[in-house]
Amino acid sequence: MKATAKAPANIAFIKYWGKKDPKLRIPPNNSISMCLSNLYSLCTVEFRENLSEDKIKFLGEKVVTEREVLRIIKVLDRARKLAKTKLRAKVVTKNNFPKATGIASSASGLSVLTLAVTAALGVRLSKLELSKLARLASGTACRSIPDGFVEWEKGTGPEDSFAKQIFPPDWWEIRDVVAIVTHKMKKVSSTGGHALAETSPFYKTRIAGIKERIRKIKKAMKSRNFTVFGEILEAECLNMHAVMLTSSPSLIYWQPATLAIMKRVQEWRGEGLESYFTIDAGPSVHIICQEKDAEELKKRLSKIKGVLRISVNKPSIGARLIDEHLF
Ligand code: DP6
Repeated sequence: MKATAKAPANIAFIKYWGKKDPKLRIPPNNSISMCLSNLYSLCTVEFRENLSEDKIKFLGEKVVTEREVLRIIKVLDRARKLAKTKLRAKVVTKNNFPKATGIASSASGLSVLTLAVTAALGVRLSKLELSKLARLASGTACRSIPDGFVEWEKGTGPEDSFAKQIFPPDWWEIRDVVAIVTHKMKKVSSTGGHALAETSPFYKTRIAGIKERIRKIKKAMKSRNFTVFGEILEAECLNMHAVMLTSSPSLIYWQPATLAIMKRVQEWRGEGLESYFTIDAGPSVHIICQEKDAEELKKRLSKIKGVLRISVNKPSIGARLIDEHLF
């Protein structure tokens, strides 16, 4: 009745923004991502006979919102329904990076929980079923279940909306150098932001162009054409942020340091250091580069005012069970 799992955050090259069905978290388009080797969550879950309510603990977090606790309880309830049990659980969870700052903490945090909870209850699920279950907790969480480079197929409904691997982690030696620029939680959650997407006059145009961008980026990934890949992913980030900026009310997830990094990346590229930025719903910046350039980028980024921490990530495997428990 006890299990521990580890799951990575992921970075999307083609993004999920807006929802066709908010309750079931069905996206309007497919998205493409990579699991990250050095940004992850751990979670231990134990179901016990003597508990009258679920006990949830976030290690290393000063602020835990009621919304976060309720989200966890919903995952427990879904798994209890599958296992036909009423047992309550002790849950201890931990991230190795600050949450709600534009690094997919809900992706790693809710995929790790989904895997640990089902394993603790002895519910055996395929990766595909796990991905679907994780999707219900947080859309991006479904992309942290498979290994390596991943595509979330939007599907037509809850049964065929899940993520699957398109290339294994060792397919391509690219890196995601993440510059963390704040430790403060963002004011508008991703879930809140998704709900505003359709208020942007550019939303429909964004969705209309996505299928073609996905076709092109997958082709570039297959042939390992870094320049084409990078140009598409940076344009895609700006496209999603154009929707965010023009939503009503407007969403500006960036901080001054975010913009400083974006400008620098473009300048460095002009000088021959080839990398491309992408940003999620927060101020942290993900700089995608080839392995050979990661250290130089890290060095240059560390000199930019406002950069608090840098994490260099390889493509990694997805969520898995591990032996060391957190309690
Ligand atoms: C901006 O998965 O955090 O990171 O499904 O409401 O939990 P919910 O949203 P979430 O969406 C964040 C999306 C994004 C872009 C992306 O990673 O595709």
